[in-house]
Parts: sequence; C-alpha cells; structure tokens
Amino acid sequence: MTRLLITGGAGFIGSNFIHYLLAKYPQVEIVNLDALTYAGNLANLADVESDPRYTFVKGDIRNPDDVAKAMADCYAVVNFAAETHVDRSIHEGGVFVETDVRGVFVLCEEARRQKIARFLHISTDEVYGSIPKGAFRETDPLAPSSPYSASKAGGELLARSYFVTYNLPVLVTRSSNNFGPFQYPEKLIPLFITNLIENKSVPVYGDGKQVRDWLFVEDQCEALDLVLHKGEVGQIYNVGAGNEEFNMDVTRALLKLLGKGEDLITYVTDRPGHDRRYAVDTTKIQALGWKPRHNFSAGLKKTVDWYVQREDWWRAIKQKQAEYKAWIEKHYGK
Ligand code: NAD
Ligand code: DAU
Repeated sequence: MTRLLITGGAGFIGSNFIHYLLAKYPQVEIVNLDALTYAGNLANLADVESDPRYTFVKGDIRNPDDVAKAMADCYAVVNFAAETHVDRSIHEGGVFVETDVRGVFVLCEEARRQKIARFLHISTDEVYGSIPKGAFRETDPLAPSSPYSASKAGGELLARSYFVTYNLPVLVTRSSNNFGPFQYPEKLIPLFITNLIENKSVPVYGDGKQVRDWLFVEDQCEALDLVLHKGEVGQIYNVGAGNEEFNMDVTRALLKLLGKGEDLITYVTDRPGHDRRYAVDTTKIQALGWKPRHNFSAGLKKTVDWYVQREDWWRAIKQKQAEYKAWIEKHYGK
C-alpha cells in the first residue's frame, strides 16, 4: 500500500515533507488532513494541488469523524498537526491541550481501529526541558517548561501508551528547532528575516544568550522518512543537527546576510519560563543511517534567499496577524 495520511500538512514542516515525499516516491499517495488554523496555509502546497497523488481534506484531528474519513485506506500516519508556538501557549494554553493531547488520542484510537501499519508522531526536543551542558538521550526524563512543551509531552506519552497497551506501531521523533522555507513568521528566524527586510527592529528576548540547535527542514524531512520506513516501532528518535547557536549570534548572522546594522536590535522582556539551552544526543538516529547535510550558515543563506524571493507569501500572512501582535507588543514591549 502506498497511501499515507499526513496531518498538519499545510504547516511548515508538514508542507516541506509533502513536497519531499512527492518528489522522492513516484507511487506515493498523500492525504493531507489539516484544520487550517492561523498556521495552516494552502499556499504552501499550491504547486502540488493538482498532482493526482495528493488530496487535501479540511478537518480537525480532534474530530473522530474527520479523522476516520481521512485515515481510510491509509497504511501509515504521520502526525504533524499541533499548536506549535511557545509564546501563544503562554498567552492561551487551552487549545494546546486540546490539539496536542486530545487530538493525538483521537488519532491513536482511529489508527488502532483501522490497524494502521506505521504511526509516526512528531514530537519535540522541548519535552526534555533545558539542559545547561551535555545532551539529552531518549531515555532521559521529561521536564517540559511551557504549556506547549507539556502538551507535546502528554501527546507523545499517550501515543507511546498505545504501543505498549494495544501494539499500535508507534514511532516518535523529538527534533530540535527547524528552519527553512514556509515557516510562519512568528518564529525567531522568519520573524527576524521579514522584520529586517521591512527595516523593522528585531525583538531579542532577555539577554539573547539562549541556545538552540538549528536543523534545516530538508534534513528533518530525510530523518522523518528514514524513521517512518526503517525505525523500530515503539522507539523514540532524537533529531538534531549539532548546530548550536546563541540567539544573539543567529540575530547577527541575519543582520549580516541582509546588510542591516545592529541599531535594529531591541532587547525586550524575557519569555516567561524561557528554556536556556536545548541539546539532544543523536547517536540513535545516526545508527539508523541519518546525518544532516546542511551546516547552519548554508541553511540560513538558503532560508534568507527564499524569504527575499517570496515576499508575496509572508506579506499576506503578516497582514492577518493583528490580534496576536497586539498581545505580543503589550507583553514584550516590542
Ligand atoms: P506549524 O504551526 O507550522 O503547522 C501546524 C499545522 O497543524 C498547521 O497547518 C495547522 O493548521 C495544523 N493544525 C493545528 N491544529 C490542528 C488540528 N486540531 N487539526 C488539524 N490540523 C491542525 O507547525 P510546524 O512548525 O510545522 O510543526 C509541525 C510539528 O512538528 C508539530 O507537531 C511540532 O510540535 C513539531 N516540531 C516542530 C519544530 C519546529 O521547529 N518547527 C521542532 C520540533 C517539533
Ligand atoms: O525546539 C523545538 C521547538 O522549536 C519546536 O518544538 C517549536 O514548535 C518551535 O516553535 C521552536 O520553539 P522555540 O521556542 O525554541 O522557537 P522560537 O522560534 O519561538 O524561539 C527561538 C528562540 O528565540 C527562543 O530562545 C526564544 C527566542 N526569541 C523568539 C522570538 C519569537 C526571541 O528572542 N525573540 C522572538 O521574537
């Protein structure tokens, strides 16, 4: 069988993954179930919408009927659908619990009923919480800090329980910060690139010395493809690039790539509960045969070039952000 259900495929990583699969596998059939929240954007998939191998279904992973219909005749499920932005989870956490926990429950129940052969659940390195030095292994305890990461932890633990209790063939990935084309301009890199193109200031939280490990989205797609097809069911795989950078250094690299000066940096109130550093040990996925192809500067250059060329894409989004932006400005003094 070749039919795959992708949930949340109209978002950043999901749409990149759909492009990746359609380019790599001539026989694949993809059903994309997406609720089209503020983060879902069919423009991300405009170039494949008439591909006979691709079907879009508007629906919600919290709705059992939507899920049952979309999952019919699929051999595998890849669950990207989630509320994903930490700041939004601080502002309004309820929908995070609803989608990132209860939505996973609905998917697992239906996958069990339909005897799905592979169920890949996309989790995050944020479930571990912050680590001052060294790197988390898959066996380390979870200590999430935000309503977002706590909901993601709940969702993945629920998925794992379906493996243990019902033998649902669940696989989980925990990846570090992704970046690349089609990322919604509320996350650090696309927000800063688009602000700088507009000659607007970039709001650095706190002292800017938090560390993230930046993974170019194409490398993420290769990792997910590998885990989906070769991973051992019941297992968790960390995915990270080893590209650790201070937020300040990311900001300076963007200023340089876009030819802007440091006067555009504004230091603002720190994010409550802000994790200082994330790092994951990727020995396990490397043993499966994956390593990232992009170093940080090559990925960043590709990303900046894409946003420079695709003003049509991000300007349409930024025009719609008024309500959230008002809250962010009030809270962070941006
Ligand atoms: P995104 O916010 O860009 O997209 C999320 C997508 O899910 C959107 O298309 C949205 O419409 C859809 N969605 C939300 N709620 C839904 C619901 N109830 N039913 C159906 N669809 C719904 O997210 P992203 O950055 O592409 O992240 C994808 C996944 O990867 C998430 O599970 C996220 O937790 C995980 N992840 C992201 C990163 C990252 O750096 N972006 C890193 C690690 C893990
Ligand atoms: O680690 C994986 C996670 O990475 C994913 O699970 C999340 O879905 C994704 O949003 C991302 O979470 P972060 O909170 O790390 O990403 P964000 O882009 O929001 O922030 C990156 C860092 O930059 C973080 O330390 C906060 C800081 N930041 C962010 C914004 C939006 C700023 O300094 N200013 C900003 O305006």
